[in-house]
Amino acid sequence: MAETAVPTPFAVAGIAGSLRAGSYNRALLRAARDLAPPVLRIEIHEIADIPLYNADVEKAGVPEPVANLRAAVGRSDALLIVTPEYNHGLPGVMKNAFDWLSRPSRESVLNGKLTAIMGASNGVIGTARSQLQLRQSLASTNTPTLLRPQVLVGRAQEKFDAEGRLTDEATRKFLVAFLDEFARWIKHMSATPGSGA
Ligand code: FNR
Repeated sequence: MAETAVPTPFAVAGIAGSLRAGSYNRALLRAARDLAPPVLRIEIHEIADIPLYNADVEKAGVPEPVANLRAAVGRSDALLIVTPEYNHGLPGVMKNAFDWLSRPSRESVLNGKLTAIMGASNGVIGTARSQLQLRQSLASTNTPTLLRPQVLVGRAQEKFDAEGRLTDEATRKFLVAFLDEFARWIKHMSATPGSGA
């Protein structure tokens, strides 16, 4: 009898850049985890305990929450960042976590890490501006990013219910298509020598 090969799922570290209990961005990350195809295993990591970046603190010893986050990203095949948008840009807590992950600069876990971005906001263009800023920063860390589809969830207040469940059917469908493409891209990039993976 022919054996059916069961592919090992890709491990994806998921980070949402909001500390708010009812965060739409964390809710979007949970939806991605739940809708992901079997080939993607998304594990959510919190950034609430990450202190403000301070080079003196880093020199004295990397804080445990930072070390844990770095280790989680380091052992994952890919990274999924879900960012809100504050004042047309990347929120401080998100950038702060990113800055810690970017260190030490030559050995950063972001170097070559296959990364996709999503975001949800109350506005109509759903974090387009903060995602652009994040992409710019990810270029500085030599982090390959999935270009399309772009997940820009606008008017998030209409797409999640009071329990933070993604109820908008069109967004759920789009998320499934995005996750399929993310999985295809990880597979492709992982098989391409010198792609950074
Ligand atoms: C916002 N919000 C917002 N939304 C947007 O689309 N563009 C923006 O520039 C801003 N600016 C902004 C600044 C500040 C300081 C706050 C607190 C909020 C609204 C934002 O999209 C909304 O609060 C989301 O709910 C934030 O994401 P979480 O916390 O739900 O994940």
